[in-house]
Amino acid sequence: MAIPLLTPNFIKYWVFQALLFMASLGSSSQAPHEVSQLYQFSYPTAVEDLISLSNGCLLLGTSTSNTLYYIDPEALFPSAQFITSFPGSDELTAFVTLPDGRYAVAGSTTIPPTPRGYTHIYVFTVDTEVTIGNVTMELLLEVPYTGRIDGMTTLPKYPHMILAADTIGGRILRINTAVGNGVSVAFEHATLKPSDQRNSTAKGIKGLEVKDDHLYFTNEAQGIFGRFPIDENGNSTGDVEILARLDEEVYGYGTSYGGFSFDSEGNAFIAAPPTSLHKITPTGVQGVFAGGVDSMFLEPTSAIVSNNGKAIYVSTAGKNTGYPFTGGQLLRVQVES
Ligand SMILES: *[C@@H]1O[C@H](CO)[C@@H](O)[C@H](O)[C@H]1NC(C)=O
Ligand SMILES: *[C@@H]1O[C@H](CO)[C@@H](O)[C@H](O)[C@H]1NC(C)=O
Ligand SMILES: *[C@@H]1O[C@H](CO)[C@@H](O)[C@H](O)[C@H]1NC(C)=O
Repeated sequence: MAIPLLTPNFIKYWVFQALLFMASLGSSSQAPHEVSQLYQFSYPTAVEDLISLSNGCLLLGTSTSNTLYYIDPEALFPSAQFITSFPGSDELTAFVTLPDGRYAVAGSTTIPPTPRGYTHIYVFTVDTEVTIGNVTMELLLEVPYTGRIDGMTTLPKYPHMILAADTIGGRILRINTAVGNGVSVAFEHATLKPSDQRNSTAKGIKGLEVKDDHLYFTNEAQGIFGRFPIDENGNSTGDVEILARLDEEVYGYGTSYGGFSFDSEGNAFIAAPPTSLHKITPTGVQGVFAGGVDSMFLEPTSAIVSNNGKAIYVSTAGKNTGYPFTGGQLLRVQVES
């Protein structure tokens, strides 16, 4: 093992880890939540996002292919089953649940990753009762001038309307899946942009969720978790509110925010690569909920609260630095410790 450089940030980071560890000894309520690996893909498959079906099983999309995987997380030996692929895309980046048993996934082409390219949105159903995993395509949408969508949610009053995050352009798009071609820009804002607009691979928004008249987002490049008040059509009606920031002196150099999910009490669980899952309460109190240095987490990408609220499922990209390289994972974090 290489000897790490003792930079001030590095030292602060380890001091923080030591304090966390001592805190965990001092109080059982601070104990890390139990994490188990349900499945690991082989390298270089990297899981990018996941969604829970009505039967509790999960769909996984990867940033390395257009393949859709299905996993029963409650199985004795969970295993990823290939169920379909979506022609025209090289990666699947974001899922959302639509009404009437439908789901949508965004797919983009990685070569060339241009902001002026277009993203596909595939609307489909999945059989969870008779022929398990039988996918039926219902609709294919093209979103122009959008290199990559990293986060989708729906409007509570119009649940067939998707709000989608243009992660390179820094815009919130409104996509009408009922008419099949209605794409418009809901709004844009400086806090939604990647830091470097000229870099077509730099990413801004990594997660998007609507809750109680607000649109919540994470911004990877800017290290922020915030929200906008919105109206029933998804237009913003007020200024942004930053709820939490990623202080690298506290959480470690290179920590960033990925996808997230709310529990029924309004706590946000955010994938925080390279090694953690953060929890942010409705009042903005942030902490490491699971993982940390030397944990099982290998570059978490997204997180969802299970249908029964007892677990959080985390997708990871795996590791392509150091040795050995590893594929992406599906992890389960126990909610009650
Ligand atoms: C899959 O679903 C479609 C549409 O519901 C149906 O027509 C088809 O027969 C199903 N395939 C299998 C193998 O059950
Ligand atoms: C663009 O951003 C990506 C991701 O942040 C980074 O890895 C890459 O080095 C950047 N490229 C340039 C030319 O700045
Ligand atoms: C709000 O959204 C609707 C689309 O549903 C649009 O027609 C309207 O112009 C928007 N209003 C404002 C004030 O931006």
